[in-house]
Amino acid sequence: MQGNLDTPDPDRVRGYFMPPGGKTGRFTTGTRPVLLYNQRTVKPVDMIYLDHNATTPMAPEVMGAMQEVVSEQWANPSSIHRLGQLAKRRLEGARERVSAFIGSEPDEIVFTGGGTESVNTAIRSCLRERSDRRLVVTSQVEHSAVRELLEDLEPTGVETLKLPNDSNGVVDVEALSKLLAERGDETALVSVMWANNETGVIEPVGRVGALCREHGVLFHSDGTQWVGKMPADMSSMPFDMLSFAAHKFHGPKGVGVLYTRRNTPYHSLVIGGGQEGGRRGGTENVPGIVGLSEACNLSEAWFKSGGPDHMSSVRAGFEDGLLEMLPDACINGREADRMWSTTSVGFPGLESELVLLMLSEHGVCASSGSACSSGALKPSKVIEAIGRQPCQVADVPYGAVRLSLGRETTSEELAKATTIIGDVVNRLQEDRDGVSVQRTEQLDPS
Ligand SMILES: Cc1ncc(COP(=O)(O)O)c(C=O)c1O
Repeated sequence: MQGNLDTPDPDRVRGYFMPPGGKTGRFTTGTRPVLLYNQRTVKPVDMIYLDHNATTPMAPEVMGAMQEVVSEQWANPSSIHRLGQLAKRRLEGARERVSAFIGSEPDEIVFTGGGTESVNTAIRSCLRERSDRRLVVTSQVEHSAVRELLEDLEPTGVETLKLPNDSNGVVDVEALSKLLAERGDETALVSVMWANNETGVIEPVGRVGALCREHGVLFHSDGTQWVGKMPADMSSMPFDMLSFAAHKFHGPKGVGVLYTRRNTPYHSLVIGGGQEGGRRGGTENVPGIVGLSEACNLSEAWFKSGGPDHMSSVRAGFEDGLLEMLPDACINGREADRMWSTTSVGFPGLESELVLLMLSEHGVCASSGSACSSGALKPSKVIEAIGRQPCQVADVPYGAVRLSLGRETTSEELAKATTIIGDVVNRLQEDRDGVSVQRTEQLDPS
């Protein structure tokens, strides 16, 4: 017998969800009970979710706002009739809200399909508008949205220079200063991320942007891991362009923003239709954009309540607990300023994928700093850029387990996770060769 919302068949109950409007429901699409969901955070209660840098659960308030648009303001905002204008009003209201959230003006906001699209638009736009300049300066620790785009542009004559960084992954601003003094007039753009997605390390984007201004070079920052998690104010930051995405801070997936300072040269990536003032073609995703603006409201309230400071101390307690349990573990980027959201940790002699699979088996959701391609485990470019880690042992590829917190992560959850991580890592290290693993200070340092 197949269940339905009102009379679910217990064998087919897959989870609980919170429909907009507040009543808890159950959905019954599965064939066996899998996950119980917490009503408020819409996340499974029997899992500890430490993968918020990958994505966050949508807030119920965001779902509520989106549902209203889906059912009531669903018309095309470019239509001149009354229904179209209702949708248009929601769209422009959201634009004002998002622009206020980052201290900018409404006409400086272009809605996109997410972080990757914003980054692609920014870089291609600068290269197109500064067509006499073919050099792009970036860092070695960028997200693949920047890194792979620049690799793809190489055959078209675009030259990429990656700034050196210290052992935490912080870019060398002095090197940038020298480079711009020598080659500033060849540089179409500098692109340096605000906060690193793998380690949480915060880059000195204020100083980078100031140098770019001094040399008349455009500056774009990938703020996908910053915006919504920490306050951002474009009126005081020297950015020409800033990319970010709603799903990193409890908004919907597939919606992003490219902030573009007024009078910055701009060329649309998506052509056709003339939406977004000709800066991004295609009918706007009004429900998603309204969801994004609601996510901004929630983040703003959370900032005001002291959320980031609270989470910084929660994270500090978590790392202390981890190191107490696993003194050989090393935390990447620990000496640098880091986002409260991220702990990147390496365990001597263990491939991160194995740790992640075991953690998942025991109810902890995390990610690695490694990408698996064509069946081969490749070390993360970010961890590679940081340099050889004390956690690398012999021929085991050094990876990192990224444990990323959300604003609703609690110390209690983290204490449970610490015990699970400790047990898993100790067991894997013992299984590996039957003995405790030595720190790499004693290993060949070459
Ligand atoms: C730093 C950074 N940039 C860009 C992206 C891409 O964002 P999206 O998945 O919204 O395209 C991500 C997502 O993981 C990210 O962490």
